[in-house]
Amino acid sequence: MTVPIAIIGAGIAGLSAAQALREAGHSVHLFDKSRGPGGRMSSKRSDAGALDLGAQYFTARDRRFVTEVQRWQTQGWVAEWTPQLYNFQGGQLTPSPDEQTRWVGTPRMSAITRALLGDVQAQFGCRITEVYRGEEHWHLQDAESFTHGPFSHVVIATPAPQATALLAAAPKLAGVAAGVKMDPTWAVALAFDTPLDTSMQGCFVQDSALDWLARNRSKPGRDSTLDTWILHATSAWSRQHIDLPKEAVIEQLHGAFAELLHSAMPAPVFSLAHRWLYARPAGSHEWGALADADLGLYVCGDWCLSGRVEGAWLSGQEAARRLHEHLQ
Ligand code: FAD
Ligand code: NAI
Repeated sequence: MTVPIAIIGAGIAGLSAAQALREAGHSVHLFDKSRGPGGRMSSKRSDAGALDLGAQYFTARDRRFVTEVQRWQTQGWVAEWTPQLYNFQGGQLTPSPDEQTRWVGTPRMSAITRALLGDVQAQFGCRITEVYRGEEHWHLQDAESFTHGPFSHVVIATPAPQATALLAAAPKLAGVAAGVKMDPTWAVALAFDTPLDTSMQGCFVQDSALDWLARNRSKPGRDSTLDTWILHATSAWSRQHIDLPKEAVIEQLHGAFAELLHSAMPAPVFSLAHRWLYARPAGSHEWGALADADLGLYVCGDWCLSGRVEGAWLSGQEAARRLHEHLQ
């Protein structure tokens, strides 16, 4: 019987590693604490339709990722989003068109990770608390005190602070992960039954509590009858207001949105707030992935590269490549 490889984290990095390892002939078993795959690329189903609360869109600059995204497009998992972009700076809102190609999952961001999961063996709602090595193989312990294993190797594909906690068996790697600071982001979704009087569909924001806003409904394949918006606060504002109750976060970011549009905004018919504790790495790194190949322990995630969807996917590929090469 072949002993599978465990992958902790079913975000885009973990799924990228899973896909590459399976293509190389290995069997993998995914674990994630959430109810489904996606991580920061997941979308929330709500009364106002599916909402992309995390990653808003992504760009593809590396040749390998460009090829992969083309495959996703052929499968119908992604489409190009061509929003009417604005920039808000010094109290001024100005159109800010550009030539950048931006991709989104269709009909929601989570369509990509859902499709990548396919028939990979996976256990959801399972938070791993410990990764330890027996005489020959690896074992995982979860928050319910169940143990899983044996596994030949372990790939940890979580944000850096969560990886640190799982790296007790490899203190050097734990030290590297512990040095990566990740900043939070408060996200708010608002829905209006009468469309807001603006042509804006996406906006980069400066000098405000807000960092970014998007008209969710303007993305391809979204069929909400309501005018839905996603608002992201800056890292600084999110950190300062990390424990603010959700109602207060909604009120303050709704206020910042009204200020930006210079209009008395109607009350939303639907609103929600979501706090991403580990939204983005404070800096970028060039590690690709981290590994202790002799131990059989690998680490990947956006924080090993650019802190974007592309970086996370490339990091998963790199972890898989190193693992496979070590076995050759
Ligand atoms: P994650 O997606 O975080 O996946 C890690 C997974 O590990 C999660 O599913 C989690 O549940 C699981 N996990 C963690 N700990 C454990 C444990 N102990 N046991 C089991 N499972 C565990 N990128 C862009 O390119 N464009 C954007 O516009 C953009 N906007 C963003 C906006 C926001 C608000 C946020 C939060 C992120 C945004 N990003 C954007 C970044 C992008 O979403 C991430 O870079 C990428 O999704 C990270 O993927 P990942 O697989 O490395 O990590
Ligand atoms: P991109 O090339 O569209 O954007 C990169 C940056 O360039 C933007 O943040 C913005 O400052 C600037 N920019 C781009 N086009 C612009 C325009 N037309 N007008 C004005 N400014 C413009 O995409 P890329 O490089 O793939 O970046 C992904 C995006 O994801 C970034 O905006 C980044 O801030 C965001 N992100 C947000 C996170 C969060 O937690 N809120 C986490 C990770 C990424």
